[in-house]
Amino acid sequence: MELRRVEELMDLLHACRGARGTACPGGAAVDLHDHALQTAALLRRSRPADKELQVAGLVHVIGQLLRPSDLSAHADLTAGAVRPLLGERVSSLVRLHRPHEPSPGDPSLDDPPFDDPSLDDPPFDDPLLGDAIVEDALILRQADESARTAGLDAGVLEDWRTVLELVSARHTRLGAID
Ligand SMILES: [Fe+2]
Repeated sequence: MELRRVEELMDLLHACRGARGTACPGGAAVDLHDHALQTAALLRRSRPADKELQVAGLVHVIGQLLRPSDLSAHADLTAGAVRPLLGERVSSLVRLHRPHEPSPGDPSLDDPPFDDPSLDDPPFDDPLLGDAIVEDALILRQADESARTAGLDAGVLEDWRTVLELVSARHTRLGAID
């Protein structure tokens, strides 16, 4: 699936309210809507000028909503869905912030074995990746892991509509839309 309009993305994020997911591999269950808002709010505090990073934190949950049964592909699924709307950098941040996440029954749990480092680390050894995007993806990962406080008020989704429109418009203006 590919998103082309901010409205479609907002609908998906609204649909996350009440949907259960996990904050990180093995993490406790969270409300995806709260988790998205908390991740974005943490990034807004730590990196106030980086709207793309904040937006990556906001949208990183939608893969869990789109395909709840496929826990191994959430980051890639989300990255592909938002790329046409929010651009390559947001997409890469989402893709890189998580390693491949094996789910119960995933064949990769048996082969390769648990201690295979490829299961623990995102593809940061890709020589085409710059240091900056890797560093930013780690900041996103840290926010993701911190953003699981049940009941913590992190604002409302509507506050993010204009930020999403800004990032989307900038991406479109650059002529990078597919
Ligand atoms: Fe998360």
